[in-house]
Amino acid sequence: MEKTVKSAVYPGTFDPMTNGHVSLILRGLDIFDEILVAVALHSPKNPLFTLDERVEMAREIFDGKDRIKVEPFEGLLVEYVKERKAVAILRGMRAVADFEYEFQMALMNRRLDRNIHTVFLMTEYKWLYISSTIIKDVARLGGEIKGLVPPNVEKRLYARYGHQPKDKIS
Ligand code: COA
Repeated sequence: MEKTVKSAVYPGTFDPMTNGHVSLILRGLDIFDEILVAVALHSPKNPLFTLDERVEMAREIFDGKDRIKVEPFEGLLVEYVKERKAVAILRGMRAVADFEYEFQMALMNRRLDRNIHTVFLMTEYKWLYISSTIIKDVARLGGEIKGLVPPNVEKRLYARYGHQPKDKIS
């Protein structure tokens, strides 16, 4: 009998991807055969990086990992999930702050398609306090972000804001 591949879509703006996202994707591989990282063109946010840049950075991070695929997507998330024949939407949840927003999105997606389930993983405690916004803010002001984002993201952020990468964590 042919074995079916269980894929989950992990959607986000990823502006930029942080170590919190990376950790969640790698943990997702313990549950699903494949994670499709779906980088959103349309997001309620006003991204610092273009869609192409966000996709490129994410692809660099997972280079060589064949169970992780990074793709841009536009339009409704549920349509993309159906197109890709994924079994679930994967999302991370940080403490209480994310709950209302995530609950709203999961319920709306379920209303749009009752066959699509959202699976939440608690964000690892190490990443509970970070977000793409707070990291961009620190990088913009020349602060230390090493260890919070993958090295390629760190380089791009400092380059975008005209700062040199820092050598060590104080
Ligand atoms: N660790 C640390 N931080 C994390 C994290 C983790 N595991 N997971 C998420 N975050 C942070 C991110 O850094 C980000 O921070 P920011 O708000 O400062 O940017 C925030 O939590 C969530 O961002 P992200 O994971 O990139 O997702 P998002 O909320 O930007 O994604 C979409 C929203 C794209 C999924 C949603 O708008 C969408 O589906 N759009 C398509 C159109 C559609 O179908 N709309 C209807 C949906 S109901």
